[in-house]
Amino acid sequence: MQLHWICIFVLFLPGLGAGYRILFMGPFPAPSHWMWLEHFQRDLLKRGHQVTSVNNHPTKKPHENLTEIILSPSFDIPKHFPKKNIFSMRFASDFQNLQMWWQIGLMTTEHALQDPKLKQLIASKDEHFDLVILEQFFHEAFLMFGKKFNCPVVTIGTMGYADNMDHAMGILTPWSVIPHLLLSHTDQMTFSQRAYNTYLSMYDAVMRRWYYLPKMQELAEKHFNNYIEGPLPHVHQLERNISLMLINSHRSVDLPRPSMPGLINVGGAHIQPAKKLPEELQSFLDKATHGVVYFSLGSYMKSTDMPPEKTALILKAFGQLKQQVLWKYENESIGQLPSNVMIKQWMPQNDILAHPNIKLFITHGGIFGTQEGIYWGVPMLCIPLYGDQHRNSIKSVREGYARSLIFSKLTTDDLVRNIEAMIYEPQYKRSALEVSQRFRDNPIHPMDEASYWIEYIIRHGGAKHLKSHGAFLPLYQYLLLDVLFCVLLAAWLTIWLPWRMLRRVYRWWAAGNEAAKVDKEKKLL
Ligand SMILES: *[C@@H]1O[C@H](CO)[C@@H](O)[C@H](O)[C@H]1NC(C)=O
Ligand SMILES: *[C@@H]1O[C@H](CO)[C@@H](O)[C@H](O)[C@H]1NC(C)=O
Ligand SMILES: *[C@@H]1O[C@H](CO)[C@@H](O)[C@H](O)[C@H]1NC(C)=O
Repeated sequence: MQLHWICIFVLFLPGLGAGYRILFMGPFPAPSHWMWLEHFQRDLLKRGHQVTSVNNHPTKKPHENLTEIILSPSFDIPKHFPKKNIFSMRFASDFQNLQMWWQIGLMTTEHALQDPKLKQLIASKDEHFDLVILEQFFHEAFLMFGKKFNCPVVTIGTMGYADNMDHAMGILTPWSVIPHLLLSHTDQMTFSQRAYNTYLSMYDAVMRRWYYLPKMQELAEKHFNNYIEGPLPHVHQLERNISLMLINSHRSVDLPRPSMPGLINVGGAHIQPAKKLPEELQSFLDKATHGVVYFSLGSYMKSTDMPPEKTALILKAFGQLKQQVLWKYENESIGQLPSNVMIKQWMPQNDILAHPNIKLFITHGGIFGTQEGIYWGVPMLCIPLYGDQHRNSIKSVREGYARSLIFSKLTTDDLVRNIEAMIYEPQYKRSALEVSQRFRDNPIHPMDEASYWIEYIIRHGGAKHLKSHGAFLPLYQYLLLDVLFCVLLAAWLTIWLPWRMLRRVYRWWAAGNEAAKVDKEKKLL
């Protein structure tokens, strides 16, 4: 009997046995996005929650409380946006880039919503969730899941801040000091930079609201219409109903910006203490007396996608180094391999960067790799290819722990010269260590912070109190245009009107005088 009571007591103890049901969605097919999101999912599972996960990558670590809805076949990005164009450096304008993101967003959203397993979830009648978590990345139609299951929504912003996140939380981004997401300016912009920033940001805001979101709404209506009672809300409205945004940004490396309590920075959340390396890698790294250069182009662009002449040129450069080289290269048949180079299809990047013999990280400048390099204090040689990589690289160079090379203009000499400069000139390592210390100095681990806030939102059934009412104000009220109008009107009424009246009275009086004078003169005559 007593045991029975103890069991009941334990069950109702707050925090213990409080497994919430969470719908976790990362519909974007690029592997790096999911690798980052999965860290959050894993932490939620570790805390005893039930997670239903919608994504493109079946887990390698099954868990009794994890139910997966794998979108398959997943959207084939390279088919629609060929990798060849990326390597041949066809730079698009910022405006074309925005269009491309919207296009990718609409296509991947539509593709995901057509998946039969996801359709089943949309049509389900007796599913219940306490929370929907969604990647904040051009999939606004998915916010309708929050409406469908009548629960709060938390988003995870993989790529850092965008103006529309501010707007959803009730702040208007100050374009005087905050450069647009696609720009690499600092918060000290010249006149022309500010002018361009304003133009681009305004274009983004207007086109997003009146071109992109209506298309998202169409998709949402097409797929949810029959399964939600009553009229569907607009995705624009749903965005303003997001309770919390966890954003991949960190105060030590990103520009300061105005914020709201509902915007939580979790940059570095994915970085864990280093684990033990596989035997072969461990001894390779331990034995390298001159240090090791680690080279990886990330998970989306494979080194094997590179034109063969570039591969040859890079190998030749590596062959001239005194250091050992680790290259994440996805094909055994690379050709003649210099004796100091080791290639592997897959590398435990975080654990490698943590090794004290790593002297340099040659990277494409993706946001997650950059953060890992910063955390472990490794200088970086960036070869940015697309998307946010250019912006990240420029930032790293500005901070003093990186140099940047242009892929299409790469030469063997260039590569050797830059690698050696970065290894032998001490300022790069010094800057890297400085930034690293700033990046690691957190009150609690960003992942613990993220999970705390996720549970907070569930405990309180959403969190309107974490955002400003500014999110719901019409623009003219937010900008106080109505007040300004009244002030001008009042000024007009109190200054202009009395002045006019006085003038009239004076004229009348003057005219009267004149008339009297004329009268007098007439009489005199
Ligand atoms: C799975 O969830 C249940 C109930 O929420 C919990 O008691 C159990 O510990 C979880 N399992 C694991 C392995 O975390
Ligand atoms: C807004 O979120 C709350 C939960 O936080 C939910 O109950 C409500 O239905 C949502 N409103 C809309 C319009 O989706
Ligand atoms: C490796 O390269 C060879 C020759 O270039 C090619 O035939 C093969 O398909 C590639 N394998 C992989 C896994 O990419």
